[in-house]
Amino acid sequence: MSDGIEIEGLVFEAARDEEGHGASRSVTPTLTAEDLEIDRSLRPKVLDDYIGQSKIKESLRILIEAARSRGEVADHVLFSGPPGLGKTTLATVVANEMGSNIKTTSGPAIERTGDLAAILTNLEEGDVLFIDEIHRMNRMVEEVLYPALEDFSLDIVVGKGPAARSIRLDLPHFTLIGATTRTGLLTGPLRDRFGIAFRLNYYTPEELAQIIIRSATILDIEIEEEGAVEIARRSRGTPRLANRMLKRVRDFACVKANGVIDEDVARRALEFFEVDHSGLDSMDNKVLEVLCVQFSGRPVGLSTLASALSEETDTLEDVYEPYLMQQGFITRTPKGRMATPRAFEHLGLEVPS
Ligand code: ADE
Repeated sequence: MSDGIEIEGLVFEAARDEEGHGASRSVTPTLTAEDLEIDRSLRPKVLDDYIGQSKIKESLRILIEAARSRGEVADHVLFSGPPGLGKTTLATVVANEMGSNIKTTSGPAIERTGDLAAILTNLEEGDVLFIDEIHRMNRMVEEVLYPALEDFSLDIVVGKGPAARSIRLDLPHFTLIGATTRTGLLTGPLRDRFGIAFRLNYYTPEELAQIIIRSATILDIEIEEEGAVEIARRSRGTPRLANRMLKRVRDFACVKANGVIDEDVARRALEFFEVDHSGLDSMDNKVLEVLCVQFSGRPVGLSTLASALSEETDTLEDVYEPYLMQQGFITRTPKGRMATPRAFEHLGLEVPS
């Protein structure tokens, strides 16, 4: 993998440039090395401490309790949804609730079938194997995974040429937890091998405010409820951003005020960090500007839009679009992406007739 550092098998993106693109944006929900430290200390360990995603939590409780009462491993689980919503956190919560160890890797980190074989043969009975970005796993590797998921067995070829033969190894029983930002990119056969799949939704401002207050308590940060609500409103429905902003606002409060985060301090801090009242930063606003001004509200193809923004199409689809779409600033039409009247209003422009 090109840029980024690898810790515990996960690759963390480095800030990419100075213009606020990619991972260096304060509102980019992709995990950065700094988040790792924050996430570690703040991450809830059990379902009872996990705020939000209530339907998913209830389903997981049933899955876990049923498996435990039968003395079996839980079915393989797939979590999908935009970055920063808690897929990794939920995987660790499932492992904790099962009383299991978790081994973590990511799709692109498993380059060869031998890498996967090594991971699988090192598992212990009952382990949870977490594969982040599972849609980026190479197809040959994926095929080795199928029998492992279905029968807990591994087919390996020993020897070369005419003398080559295949032997089947038994693996310990384990639960695979896969995470992906886009289910559409998973192959059908892989998707079919998960017993259960969950799509994580954006959190409500009320849930985010609760998460911020919980995190502030752990980090010993003084915050008023109105301050938490102000940060929550601008955190794009994403706990990772809420926690990251909490730390930025705490710094601001220490330097520019008396250290306490109230509504006014939170608002001033977020304005200083250029996150607007809808949680949009300069890059989001640039997306809207390109659609509304440069293309006058006409539909724009994904690759055209990406090159107008000097961004990759994947980043546009995974990082910027989901929130802008969920908030009703842009829509997808058969002819391309289009700004909605709300986007024009947000930029203070006249809505075209
Ligand atoms: N920290 C990050 N995500 C969280 C969540 N869903 N609940 C509690 N704390 C969190």
